[in-house]
Amino acid sequence: MISNNENGVMEDSLNDRKRQQFGSRFLTEEADVFQHNAWDDVEWDSDLEDKAKQKIQFNSTVTFSAEELELYEIEADKYWNSFYCQHQNKFFKDRQWLFTEFNELNKVLRPVGEEVGEEVAEECKTQCSINADKLKDEVNLYNGCQTKTRILEVGCGVGNTVFPILQTSNNPNLFIYCCDFAESAIQILKEHPLYNENRCHAFVCDVTACSSFPCPENSLDFIILIFVLSSIHPDRMLLTLQKLTKLLKPGGMLLFRDYGRYDMAQLRFKPGKCLGDNFYLRGDGTRVYFFTQAEIDTMLTSCGLVKEQNIVDRRLQVNRGRQLKMYRVWIQSKYRKPNYKT
Ligand SMILES: C[S@@+](CC[C@H](N)C(=O)[O-])C[C@H]1O[C@@H](n2cnc3c(N)ncnc32)[C@H](O)[C@@H]1O
Repeated sequence: MISNNENGVMEDSLNDRKRQQFGSRFLTEEADVFQHNAWDDVEWDSDLEDKAKQKIQFNSTVTFSAEELELYEIEADKYWNSFYCQHQNKFFKDRQWLFTEFNELNKVLRPVGEEVGEEVAEECKTQCSINADKLKDEVNLYNGCQTKTRILEVGCGVGNTVFPILQTSNNPNLFIYCCDFAESAIQILKEHPLYNENRCHAFVCDVTACSSFPCPENSLDFIILIFVLSSIHPDRMLLTLQKLTKLLKPGGMLLFRDYGRYDMAQLRFKPGKCLGDNFYLRGDGTRVYFFTQAEIDTMLTSCGLVKEQNIVDRRLQVNRGRQLKMYRVWIQSKYRKPNYKT
């Protein structure tokens, strides 16, 4: 069932469940629209876009005081913490689409041999032209240093991305770091039967404020950001991405999926919920931003990353009983850190 509340996240978890089922159903005849529950890759005409713009104009007047805006920023972690205290691990569904949308991950989930220690240092030496002895000391100091492939998921919640990866992977050389600023989420994640410190390290961290991560610079193959950048204040997004980019190995990749501009969740906000341009407050105190492709491209390229994919995923969800059409919009991007030769 599709929730009617303004918390757009609920609609996403629903969509995730449907994705496998409706991944490639295209609407060719408008008259057929109520024949199925969802349609992929829907075209937006100018009329639809104009209506969306009008709705946003209607709901975009900021009525919060500067003090209130600051408080929502300062207490952002508390609202997410309460969210997980209330919903536990029942709200989001496992991101099973991960392996179709981000098929780069499939390569590293397969066993790749036993290269550890010296070879990790050697590889990083050539890739990053960093002093090998210093690096070797470093690789012996941090969780996951003995593995060849390392992933960091930021804003991991209760592990709906981490556990599908751990479940799918039988690669002994894969290690996953995951962080969230909601302590309750990390606590729930650590109680999962698949949580194992030999394969995974979960930690509490506000990624906008954090200055030290459990892994060094140039050490990660992938950074995954799924519906998390949208929770961060727009003024802090770029600095956060710059910081994260430093952690990627040369050749490493940032995988991103998040809300797109004019998504149904944005259009549904009532006036009085807008915190800033395309940035809104949900009923539970959590915040959400709605991106354009260009904004993502500008931020990630200014971090020195190179675009491999930046698409808008548009889907039409249909409530056949009530004859309602709901347009979903997500941005999905893959950006790589250049692999400079030494
Ligand atoms: C919409 S949820 C998505 C959770 C998970 N990525 C998923 O897709 O199921 C956003 C998550 O980002 C976390 N988050 C928001 N801002 C954060 C920050 N500054 N640092 C770390 N985590 C943050 C929230 O606590 C929440 O778990």
